[in-house]
Amino acid sequence: MFIKGVGMTKFDYSQKPWWQFAFEAAMEALKDADMKISEIEAIVFSGVSSAAGGEHQTHKVSLLSDLFKTNIPIIETPSVCSGGGVATWTANRLGFKNILVIGADKLVDNRSEITTDWIMSAAERIIEQTEGMLFPVQNALVWQQYMEKYEANMDDLALIAFKNHQNAVLNPKAYYYQRPVSLEDIKKSPIVCSPFRLMDCSLSVNGGAAAILSKEKTDIEIIGSSLNTDYLLTFGREIITHFKATRLAAEAAFKEAKIKPKDIDIAEVHDAFTSVELFSYEDLGFAPIGKGAELIRQGKVNLDGELPINPSGGLKAKGHPISATGLAQIYEVVNQMRGKCEERQVKPLPQIGLCHNIGGVGGSVTVHILRKIKN
Ligand code: COA
Repeated sequence: MFIKGVGMTKFDYSQKPWWQFAFEAAMEALKDADMKISEIEAIVFSGVSSAAGGEHQTHKVSLLSDLFKTNIPIIETPSVCSGGGVATWTANRLGFKNILVIGADKLVDNRSEITTDWIMSAAERIIEQTEGMLFPVQNALVWQQYMEKYEANMDDLALIAFKNHQNAVLNPKAYYYQRPVSLEDIKKSPIVCSPFRLMDCSLSVNGGAAAILSKEKTDIEIIGSSLNTDYLLTFGREIITHFKATRLAAEAAFKEAKIKPKDIDIAEVHDAFTSVELFSYEDLGFAPIGKGAELIRQGKVNLDGELPINPSGGLKAKGHPISATGLAQIYEVVNQMRGKCEERQVKPLPQIGLCHNIGGVGGSVTVHILRKIKN
């Protein structure tokens, strides 16, 4: 399949209903593709219920029918934070000529304790939820295991946060657009859950993103698309320093694309926590196991490095509205490959890009590899 158009709302705390984020992102994608909704044959939507349940609306496909004034097939593929990636993976296999893919959520509509409690519904019930193993806690424990075994430290994570914040300053759709954060501020930010500081965590926001996939040839082709899963109980897995589902999804996507990790020019990597970005460098094959820190220390993953990672600002500084994230990654990579990113444009123009989207603490993972077609 090919990508015709992409769209995305600004990520922030706007108090619009989820469907308005979905509508705005979809309209931008249609405009980008120079298409009308009547040319779309099906829609795949990913969204989760509102954190505080304020909208009390679960028949989302029918609401979307109403919104777009269409009677075409519409399906939902919610998968917590990997929802956007899973929607893309699904659309890529459905066989329609033109298909609209949307991810949208109003995640933040209440006090942060309520948002946090709601995010916890994605964790295992008997041990993780009852013991209060919030997502920052689980990820901090995974990172402690990593630091015990391999050579990396909190300064490496601070550099990742700094890079992503620097990139977000240049992205008008990122929450931290034009709001620089210094390395010192990052290193002094409050401890959230030792050893993690506030600036090691992704930023919960609201928003939507969309893409139009097509069988008709365009300038962007999806050459690899994979989805893998792993056990819900994080510490019941064989590997506790990395995410096995990322490794499996990366292997499958590279095999399908018939390329190697060294062929990637640009990547959006799921930095739910700075540590996840670091060890995902290894799981995705960009660095040997245990050597991910070298990429950030040597500046290789910076905007002007040899493999820019998270040029959008990532989940850290662009923001993470759950289901929109996977499609926002596609939005960034497509626009980078089309040379439309102005101040944060990667040069020379990237030809092959990768999007890595995770649900939960590595419980579901998609990898998409996109290639620019030369005209
Ligand atoms: N990075 C940068 N700034 C952040 C931030 C983050 N991770 N989290 C919150 N902020 C900012 C807010 O924008 C707000 O700024 P403002 O005063 O300029 O508006 C301020 O800090 C206070 O926000 P608040 O929501 O009250 O913060 P908090 O202390 O309650 O929450 C965390 C901080 C780290 C607990 C929360 O961001 C979090 O849980 N992040 C992880 C989300 C997650 O697990 N997602 C799923 C991933 S799998």
